[in-house]
Amino acid sequence: MNPLIVYYSRSKNTQVIAELIRDKVDRDLFQIETKEKRLMDCREEVNQQEQEQINEVLPE
Ligand SMILES: Cc1cc2nc3c(=O)[nH]c(=O)nc-3n(C[C@H](O)[C@H](O)[C@H](O)COP(=O)(O)O)c2cc1C
Repeated sequence: MNPLIVYYSRSKNTQVIAELIRDKVDRDLFQIETKEKRLMDCREEVNQQEQEQINEVLPE
């Protein structure tokens, strides 16, 4: 079995770490992406998430 490194990264912090791990352990990387880009402004993102939680909507 060859484990896969799966990650989600909105603003690339996690992506950088996933790539460092990949370089150490030589595994394939798979990035989970949302259908639509998430907002990059932190306050707007928080507001959007609040609305999603109220409406019980999960990002696709
Ligand atoms: C809307 C929002 C909520 C966040 N909530 C938390 C949190 O609860 N705890 C935490 O440690 N960091 C929180 N963060 C910070 C992110 O986890 C942190 O910036 C992370 O490095 C982002 O990873 P990414 O660049 O791969 O998307 C939050 C960031 C955003 C934009």
